[in-house]
Amino acid sequence: MVRVLRATQVEIDAAVQALREGELVAFPTETVYGLGANAQDPAAVRRVFEVKGRPAHHPVIVHLASARQLQHWAREVPEVARRLAERFWPGPLTMVLPRAVQVHDSVTGGQDTVAIRVPSHPMAQQLLTAFGGGIVAPSANRYGKLSPTRAEHVREELGHAVRRVLDGGECQLGLESTIVSFEGPTVRLLRPGAVTATQLRAHLGEEILLGARDSSPRVPGSTRSHYAPSTSLTIVPATQIDAYAAALSEGGRRVAVLAQCLPLKVHRYVTWINAGRRPEQYGHDLYANLRTLDRAGCVQILVQDVPQDERWEAIRDRLLRAATSVSGERTDTGVMAG
Ligand code: TXA
Ligand code: MG
Repeated sequence: MVRVLRATQVEIDAAVQALREGELVAFPTETVYGLGANAQDPAAVRRVFEVKGRPAHHPVIVHLASARQLQHWAREVPEVARRLAERFWPGPLTMVLPRAVQVHDSVTGGQDTVAIRVPSHPMAQQLLTAFGGGIVAPSANRYGKLSPTRAEHVREELGHAVRRVLDGGECQLGLESTIVSFEGPTVRLLRPGAVTATQLRAHLGEEILLGARDSSPRVPGSTRSHYAPSTSLTIVPATQIDAYAAALSEGGRRVAVLAQCLPLKVHRYVTWINAGRRPEQYGHDLYANLRTLDRAGCVQILVQDVPQDERWEAIRDRLLRAATSVSGERTDTGVMAG
């Protein structure tokens, strides 16, 4: 696998110029590709929403080169947030903070908070450092679809609308950042990602709150139909994946399977991906695998249920949001069908 981690200065200069002129630039981060615009240019931010087909009131993440720029964007930074920034930035952690007055409503969706992240991908760092300001960047996909983890995913989906795509190879993590908010000195985890609740607890030496509350800021990624392929996706009990694949493909229906093992026998009409048992690799490949299965011309994608283990938490979260249904017995809460 070729790893392209740095852009040439010519590419970076051109991207910075484009951002200054109000154009969009897609760029790699260690999580997924972002669709970037100058965070201080409301027309450019609106264009991001247009290109994604995303409802205008949804807030976006502001990306910065370093925590030193925080004070331009957040009117106050709780001590606990500073401690998280020191430990986890640059990296896959997004913090929701009280917005500074000059942050545009187009960025925050009119809320009193702004989401901020300092990505670690070298090319994102090059771009942000050269640009000097904040870059809003939702994942560079159409609203409700799978996030892109390779430059070609962005080109396939947004190609005609986004002329400039910085190609940084495959995203290292493959799943969107962990998002946290603050309730006084207490941290609330709004979206699971590579930075886990255990890591947050261990670093802070304190309990944290899990999941969005009704009064929590809106996280559109927490609505159903997010991160979804077009083919309907069903999560099936781990031990029954072969049986489901066999039953569903009976009579010649084509079926797609995302499993953590090889099939017990060869199923004739089944496109089977063994994504393995290692959560890092599984997460890295997840969106690319779902894209592949989505294009396989199948009536359904069956996903073998993943372990109830924190290392699989972000994967489980994205699978549940992508699922149109969940079959069989489940013990966890928040499982929705239909
Ligand atoms: O890894 C990531 O976070 C990627 C890369 C490109 O950085 N970005 C990403 O952006 O996933 P997006 O827009 O697809 O998801 C950002 C999430 C949304 O669910 C949004 O609602 C939430 O962040 N968000 C943004 N601003 C917020 C705020 N002020 N309060 C609560 N949630 C916010
Ligand atoms: Mg997204």
